Amino acid sequence: TQEEECKGNVKAQLAKLFEVSLKVTVPNEADIDPLIAACTGKFGDYQCNNAMGLWSKIKGKGTQFRGPPAVGEAIKNNLPTSEMIDSCSVAGPGFVNVVLSKNWMAKSIQKMLIEGIDTWAPQPPVKTAVVDFSSPNIAKEMHVGHLRSTIIGDTLARMLEFSKVKVLRRNHVGDWGTQFGMLIEFLFEKFPNFEDATETAIGDLQAFYKASKQRFDSDPAFKERAQQAVVRLQGGEEKYRRAWAQICEISRTEFHKVYQRLGVHLEEKGESFYNPYIPGVIEGLTKQGLVEESQGARVIFIEGINIPLIVVKSDGGFNYASTDLAALWYRLNEEKAEWIIYVTDVGQQQHFDMVFKAAKRAGWLPQGDNYPKASHVGFGLVLGEDGKRFRTRNTEVVRLVDLLDEAKNRSKAALIERGKGEEWTEEEIESTADAVGYGAVKYADLKNNRLTNYTFNFDQMLNDKGNTAVYLLYAHARICSIIRRSGKDVEELKNKGTLVLEHKDERDLGLHLLQFAEVVEEACTNLLPNVVCDYLYNLSEIFSKFYSNPECKVIGSDKETSRLLLCEATAVVMRKCFNLLGITPIYKI
Ligand code: ARG
Repeated sequence: TQEEECKGNVKAQLAKLFEVSLKVTVPNEADIDPLIAACTGKFGDYQCNNAMGLWSKIKGKGTQFRGPPAVGEAIKNNLPTSEMIDSCSVAGPGFVNVVLSKNWMAKSIQKMLIEGIDTWAPQPPVKTAVVDFSSPNIAKEMHVGHLRSTIIGDTLARMLEFSKVKVLRRNHVGDWGTQFGMLIEFLFEKFPNFEDATETAIGDLQAFYKASKQRFDSDPAFKERAQQAVVRLQGGEEKYRRAWAQICEISRTEFHKVYQRLGVHLEEKGESFYNPYIPGVIEGLTKQGLVEESQGARVIFIEGINIPLIVVKSDGGFNYASTDLAALWYRLNEEKAEWIIYVTDVGQQQHFDMVFKAAKRAGWLPQGDNYPKASHVGFGLVLGEDGKRFRTRNTEVVRLVDLLDEAKNRSKAALIERGKGEEWTEEEIESTADAVGYGAVKYADLKNNRLTNYTFNFDQMLNDKGNTAVYLLYAHARICSIIRRSGKDVEELKNKGTLVLEHKDERDLGLHLLQFAEVVEEACTNLLPNVVCDYLYNLSEIFSKFYSNPECKVIGSDKETSRLLLCEATAVVMRKCFNLLGITPIYKI
């Protein structure tokens, strides 16, 4: 229906039309997927690229067509009429170019303004997803890798939530394992009344970890006690459980400071949570014949990988992989998740590859790329100016909280330098500095393809020119101020006014706005936040081309209403992008 045609994903809507045409054009070829791509050439807005591929399929079979251009011509002629399309033409070896109707475009944008941007959300074929992200290790450093995981994972969760998927945001903290024996014994030694050992008493938990490790390595008697402690902890002995809980709690307080600054919400289900499920899961896999004996350990062999996945160590203990198998089992069977997404550095790719392949062998996951599905979202390193792993001058690791504080302080200083100290209230300064500072750190991380390493540089990320959060946040604030200065009520204009796309720059902006839905869908399907960043940056460039063109004057022109609506639509789409990226928009500059 026309109703449906006005909504959402342009590429998908065109694909539907071409699907009809393809069925008519080559009735004997079953299920051909329409290949539709946006194009920037002068022949059209979109292109259908099926003709050549089709030609090679049908040419030997006595077809009526004389080559790909004729196939393209037929695809074009068999297209159902639609309000969306203004004109079509065939170019080169059968590409079918589509020029969208300006009227339809304008109407679709106005409809989004009235009904809300949610009508442009993707519709992934899953109801429930797990995003396993951040996941630092108790008592160890929470390093910049965990910061990346936190930022990327939050964005992916936001994209899925926008798509109406129920997302279980899981913090798979490393809160189990043999290091706890050593930590607990050290705690008993340092603080006989360990329950009074608060965060302040222990101080830096990382230093505590180091000191206990030193003790463990140098004193055999201590080592012996530590190994005993693990057994007693795992046996559920009260005092050991309490000490363990205490250490976890102190770490948690530290982690929380980072999450709070970033505005990221997570639910902790650490490794310890899955521990009770491990024996049953391994038993099941053993019954299926997947688990074999190898050098005293119990392992699963994976086709094509020369090392096996160890699921029970030679000392009978469980490990990282046993926990991940149990967690995957739990997420699929107890939580009924249909998409399980793991966000860690690329270094863990092989681990997840093996876990997923084991799960496929066990029949927990279907073969191929179908749902339910498990995906590893890997990312590269954060580098310092020296091209090595990012570190601060005197400490070995960067304290994440300090890093975020510095970003905020720098953006606050910049605001004061620009004289906002006199103009704005203290509260406005603070909230803007938060938005800009934390937004800058997030955007610098998200804008590159996640697999590439990137260099951490405050000056670059806080620059107000170029592809940075600061530039984009200001661009949005400027649009808001145009609307404010007009003195018009956009809410009223949305319903009473009419948006039109006459000028080329207006049409270009309109087309880019309409592409929001397909871009977010792509970002969501391929788990690539940088796709949204690219889109957002291009949007602000295209807007500025429109706005700086004297022929597209907004306030006081006879097209004022329409152009204000176009400004509003740009602001709405920009805000949604910020929202997906976990960045807080600002409204004043
Ligand atoms: N704790 C791990 C680390 O710091 C990350 C855990 C990722 N999630 C998982 N299910 N293995 O490297």
